[in-house]
Amino acid sequence: MNQEKVNRVVVIGAGAVGSSYAFSLVNQAITDELVIVDLNEDKAMGDAMDLNHGKVFAPNPTRTWYGTYEDCEQADLVCICAGANQKPGETRLDLVKKNVSIFKTIVDQVMASGFNGIFLVATNPVDILTYATWIFSGLPKERVIGSGTILDSGRLRFLLGEYFDVAPGSVHASIIGEHGDTELPVWSRATISGIPIKDIVAENASYQMEDLDEIFVNVRDAAYHIIEKKGATYYGIAMGLARITKAILHNENCVLTVSAYLDGEYGEKDVYIGVPAVINRSGLRNIMEMKLDETEQQQFNHSATVLKGILAENF
Ligand code: 2OP
Repeated sequence: MNQEKVNRVVVIGAGAVGSSYAFSLVNQAITDELVIVDLNEDKAMGDAMDLNHGKVFAPNPTRTWYGTYEDCEQADLVCICAGANQKPGETRLDLVKKNVSIFKTIVDQVMASGFNGIFLVATNPVDILTYATWIFSGLPKERVIGSGTILDSGRLRFLLGEYFDVAPGSVHASIIGEHGDTELPVWSRATISGIPIKDIVAENASYQMEDLDEIFVNVRDAAYHIIEKKGATYYGIAMGLARITKAILHNENCVLTVSAYLDGEYGEKDVYIGVPAVINRSGLRNIMEMKLDETEQQQFNHSATVLKGILAENF
């Protein structure tokens, strides 16, 4: 009998984000098993059928089915994508009340299955709902991770790649803080091939710091622009979630900007917020603490204060 460890991911919520995530997982063959759970069983069943029909074209076949919370017992990772999403003009923080109560129901049911793996949270406001998942589950903080600013960092690297005409993977730059309106770029640590971006701009007349400021505004407001155009964002976040999932299941020790519980790092405590962290099979191994400049530190503290204000109202 084959005794090899089989990885199982359960995705809760087969809306646009959940099903795009499922598609990314199957396409990249990141997990052996994928279970789709949704209140709308037909949607979950239809997605499972659809994905199974493509599995012969994937690098490896993922065993995919639609299931129930009981399937979480054997899961290595449960990714929550369920919940209400932003309407045009709504901020991510407007969703708090609705989604905290939805999360209580979801997390209670996952835990009742006997689940003992890692939670990955995608639903907005992601920093608040990751905190909610940590509280409701009682799991160690290292095993509750939010997508945080992974997508914002991806957007930043893409736009900087276009601006400097290099591949986005060669740009090392991050957005930290709330996944939302108070997030910030860490320009003081952004590099291309080890060269600080600030030096590249200072030494080359064709680049301006003002352009970088504009790039950041585009990153921060990207979701609003996409929601205006097509009602929701899902491919980018789904690919970011798949990236985190791969780092966990394949024990990569990869540094990704995720929503992590701070216990003194960056001068903050008792808040989930986007920071770079090493991700592996145990979940979040450790937070990478960058030295921020004074303005960045102030902006980060402001972002944490905004999140803590919301936590104080809800927990
Ligand atoms: C995004 O940033 C809406 O949080 C989602 O695309």
